[in-house]
Amino acid sequence: MENTVRNKQVILRDYIEGFPKESDLKVVTASNTTELKVKPGSMAVLVKNLYLSCDPYMGIRMREPNPSTLALIDAFVPGKPIAGFGVSKVIDSDDPVFEKGDYVWGLVDWEEYSTIHPIGIFKIDININVPLSYYTGILGMIGLTAYGGFFEICSPKKGETVFISAASGAVGQLVGQFAKLMGCYVVGSAGSKQKVDILLNKFGFDDAFNYKEEPDLDAALKRCLPQGIDIYFENVGGKMLDAVLMNMKDNGRIAVCGMISQYHLKANERIQNLPFVIVKKIKMQGFVCFDFLNSFPKFLEFVLPCIKERKLIYVEDIVEGLENGPAALVGLFHGQNVGKQVLKVARE
Ligand SMILES: NC(=O)c1ccc[n+]([C@@H]2O[C@H](COP(=O)([O-])OP(=O)(O)OC[C@H]3O[C@@H](n4cnc5c(N)ncnc54)[C@H](OP(=O)(O)O)[C@@H]3O)[C@@H](O)[C@H]2O)c1
Repeated sequence: MENTVRNKQVILRDYIEGFPKESDLKVVTASNTTELKVKPGSMAVLVKNLYLSCDPYMGIRMREPNPSTLALIDAFVPGKPIAGFGVSKVIDSDDPVFEKGDYVWGLVDWEEYSTIHPIGIFKIDININVPLSYYTGILGMIGLTAYGGFFEICSPKKGETVFISAASGAVGQLVGQFAKLMGCYVVGSAGSKQKVDILLNKFGFDDAFNYKEEPDLDAALKRCLPQGIDIYFENVGGKMLDAVLMNMKDNGRIAVCGMISQYHLKANERIQNLPFVIVKKIKMQGFVCFDFLNSFPKFLEFVLPCIKERKLIYVEDIVEGLENGPAALVGLFHGQNVGKQVLKVARE
């Protein structure tokens, strides 16, 4: 292996307004060389990035920070690489916890090689024989979001009705299958016929509809869930939330995981039907995945046997090459991903 490389990176050109575009990001090769060794005494770890996760919150980080920005994590810096969750291989380490050859997952910059000070980087147990890419999703932040959001926020019971928006995506596909495992009646919405087919025929949803072809969302919900909705797992917000509020049952629960339809609008859409929260005694709660960090071991105990015994199917949409990262990330906001969007940067 060479001792130095010119690192390829995906940088943010400038803060964005409106929807993220591919041209807001630029793939560059650094003019300086990166040494493939860490400095003794630095406690740093040098990793080669293998998989990068494309997530909707990254679009919010492309905006200039201001008090009305939703961002939970700091905005990206123009001219610098964007960052997100990734799976990497340790090339060199000055931290005794990590050794050359280890595989890790956690936050890294979008680049071929990263030097990290490993706070919040987790070692991967390769004896758990699953694809490494799973640590960008089902075995990482996405899985914990689906698990905590569904089991801890929604308190599901067997026989209840569950509706999930963006149901074929990274989080949605897991919530739907967790709900089926609980014995719930599960309905999902998604933005294409192909995605609806996957919901019905791959993930075992009881019913599903393509919201883009439904002129009346209220009617679509009444058709699929005539008895009403006990649990709504909210991924999109806007018109869908408004229609769902009219169809919730008394004492229903809404877990507000995300509102992707609103993230890049000039102004959030107004919700008309919030008064139903009062009369139907609905519990509506937002959350972020980090709220459930203490439940991570419990989550793994639940999810790993489900993967092994094929009780859960996990669909990924893997795009290869760092240069295709901008299109993959931006595609999330146009529904181009089918399943969890992952970027493969290098061979394992
Ligand atoms: N609270 C947390 O900690 C947390 C953690 C992870 C994710 N999230 C949130 O969970 C939601 C799903 O995230 P994910 O990672 O699983 O993404 P994903 O569902 O895999 O990908 C995003 C999907 O959103 C749908 N979408 C995009 N624009 C839309 C619009 N204007 N209206 C309706 N649907 C739209 C598209 O699916 P269709 O083709 O079906 O439209 C797209 O494929 C997002 O809102 C995200 O911000 C929250």
